[in-house]
Amino acid sequence: MQRPKLDWHSRDVISIRDFSRERIEDLLSQAQQIRPDSELLRGRVIASLFFEPSTRTQLSFATAMQRLGGQVIGFSGTEGSSLVKGESLQDTAKVVEKYADIIVIRHPLEGSARWVADTVSIPVINAGDGANQHPTQTLTDLFTIQKFQARLDDLKIGLVGDLKYGRTVHSLALSLTRFRQITLRLISPENLRMPPAITRELDGVVPYVETADLDLRELDVVYVTRIQKERFPDIEEYEKVKGAYVIDLNACEQLRRDAILLHPLPRVDEIAPEVDSLPQAKYFEQSENGVPVRMALLQLLLGA
Ligand code: NCD
Repeated sequence: MQRPKLDWHSRDVISIRDFSRERIEDLLSQAQQIRPDSELLRGRVIASLFFEPSTRTQLSFATAMQRLGGQVIGFSGTEGSSLVKGESLQDTAKVVEKYADIIVIRHPLEGSARWVADTVSIPVINAGDGANQHPTQTLTDLFTIQKFQARLDDLKIGLVGDLKYGRTVHSLALSLTRFRQITLRLISPENLRMPPAITRELDGVVPYVETADLDLRELDVVYVTRIQKERFPDIEEYEKVKGAYVIDLNACEQLRRDAILLHPLPRVDEIAPEVDSLPQAKYFEQSENGVPVRMALLQLLLGA
């Protein structure tokens, strides 16, 4: 691995807003050069604190750490931890920082990762804080776009589905302000539009249209998301919008041949399984890319 251009040591990864273009490019170039097995993080430990379900994020961090020779401790769901006895997140974090070199946390409360980062002195990575952000998914998404489209400028990108509660699309949209000649098509039901806190930052930087029409023509990247059932305060509201968009073979006829179809996964029914065999379907490669991206990130933050 070539030397990183920037100082990464002991930084927190809480919001994609903290990533300049230079920092994103530095990380992606480190990820491209990653070697599959090394012992660079031997003796180092991740504390993986997952208060919400996760398959890809949790397992790709664990795989990344193990491929670097390091170890992972932690929990998934609170059942096995003292949180069920009433321990505060702050006390848990203070204890865990003595056991590990870095904390990876997923928690339903927006702002929770920042709060833990302010409490402990080891680096903290936000693996999803409620409906707010998921910065390491965005780094994986950008890595995937660059891999298949060979650029991060001059792209027409469609974000489809739950743009209100989907944290992956919040972080991804914000990251695109770092690149040139991006246009965004924000495709969602009326009541699941991108929050104003995000569109405000796009204004004047990334031209976007908001629409309910599933118009995929001309797009270079189509990024589909799950309707985030667990975030709806009222289940009846969810029932009204579930299944709002289904990307099936018919819908894919609109896709350009050189477009790519992404999804952070898990999918429920928003992409039909028949679509998986189309050349544009890249969502399984996207989840695979989570490993080199997280390996590069861990290596950089731990100064290896
Ligand atoms: C996403 C998440 O947890 O925000 N999953 C992931 O990390 N790849 C998407 C989702 O749950 O819909």
